[in-house]
Amino acid sequence: MNQKLSTESYKGVRDFYPADWQTEQHIFNVWRKTLQSFGYTEYNASILEPTELYKAKSGEEIVNEQTYSFVDRGGRDVTLRPEMTPTVARMVAARKRELSFPLRWFSIPNLFRYERPQRGRLREHWQLNADIFGIDGSMAEIELISIASALMKNFGLRDEQFEIRISSRRFLDAIFADWYEIDDERAKKLQKLIDRKNKMNGDEFQSQAEEIVGGAFNFLKLDPSDELYQEAMAVESIRDAKKEIDDIILSLENLGINNVRLDHELVRGFDYYTGIIFEIFDTDPENRRALFGGGRYDELLSLFADDSVPAAGFGMGDVTMRDTLETYGLLPEISSETTVYICTTAPTLSELAFALAKKMRAEGLNVGINLTDKKISDQIKHASKEEIPYIITIGETEAVKDIYPLKNLLTGDEMKRSILEIISILKQ
Ligand code: HAM
Repeated sequence: MNQKLSTESYKGVRDFYPADWQTEQHIFNVWRKTLQSFGYTEYNASILEPTELYKAKSGEEIVNEQTYSFVDRGGRDVTLRPEMTPTVARMVAARKRELSFPLRWFSIPNLFRYERPQRGRLREHWQLNADIFGIDGSMAEIELISIASALMKNFGLRDEQFEIRISSRRFLDAIFADWYEIDDERAKKLQKLIDRKNKMNGDEFQSQAEEIVGGAFNFLKLDPSDELYQEAMAVESIRDAKKEIDDIILSLENLGINNVRLDHELVRGFDYYTGIIFEIFDTDPENRRALFGGGRYDELLSLFADDSVPAAGFGMGDVTMRDTLETYGLLPEISSETTVYICTTAPTLSELAFALAKKMRAEGLNVGINLTDKKISDQIKHASKEEIPYIITIGETEAVKDIYPLKNLLTGDEMKRSILEIISILKQ
């Protein structure tokens, strides 16, 4: 009976103590403000989804190995959402007739994936999702990548501290079909293999790739100046898909975004992408994991209705963003939301403290009251530890005179004032 429960959180998830949550709120605020500045509106949904939502298009690894799924009491298969894209696709498809396109939506969901916890990867994370529905040209991708770049800037990062890598499923498909001439099934295998390339050793990758294409596989190693690369670019489908990428990079350069480059090894894990795909990386080698990932997924909404809606978007995680902000010393200082703390010399004065606090709160101030019978010096120490900038001390004399000492704990300045004067000072 004496066996105590562990105070540790479940493996791979985080407890957010107030200071951690404040940092987290800083991240959410930058996300929200930036998205709103681009004309995006916020939506939300439940964490629970029917498991079948992910079976059709998310990608095998996510569905078979990384979902938290269970059967509910009514026998339904349920999954804790591992990503937001299927949910938003479902929501848009459900109201397709009433919604007016183009839609620009964002959300900040908590997501769950059964992964091996490591730097930049946990079993729970928060992810900004920004998606645009109803635009089929590359202007959507240009806008999304501009948002991604603006987000990084708004967090205080400079261009050289991050890199935007872009590719396209159309480009890869053209190389697989019209250069290596492999069928869809083998193309899909090759795509998954390239996605796992960094997790395996070079020889192993090379031999598996050669087995899939049934001969030499060297495309990823080619330099654009190589003759063979030029030859590939002479194939119309490959050239066209590459041109779309080049045009986007050029448009972004014209907008002053110069840290975008084509990455032939970028494929992204999800099956639903159909066109441009992109990821953003911190250039510090300590933070090897992507900060953002996204792309175009024009067919996903056809899971729900006969005709689809063109769609593109990205997700940006809080775990990797926190690592990056820490690396560059960009985490905000923690400060208290409480402006003033009332300390009392005797419990009998608590009622007066409540009344004064009520007056101050009515004027929009955030006020805490100590409520213990500890020594005044300990009450002040507590306020100081909580980083509360001001204290008011109430003793018997103050109560009678209705004049209170207001002390600034940062400067040590103290003045005696009526509550109305204190309110007007603190409101400044
Ligand atoms: P994703 O690449 O799986 O894309 O995730 C996007 C970002 O979320 C990653 O770059 C990373 O920052 C973060 N992230 C993902 N998994 C974890 C994890 N286990 N721990 C910590 N952070 C993680 C998607 O989820 C797509 N649904 C994004 C999207 C939206 N595509 C179109 N619209």
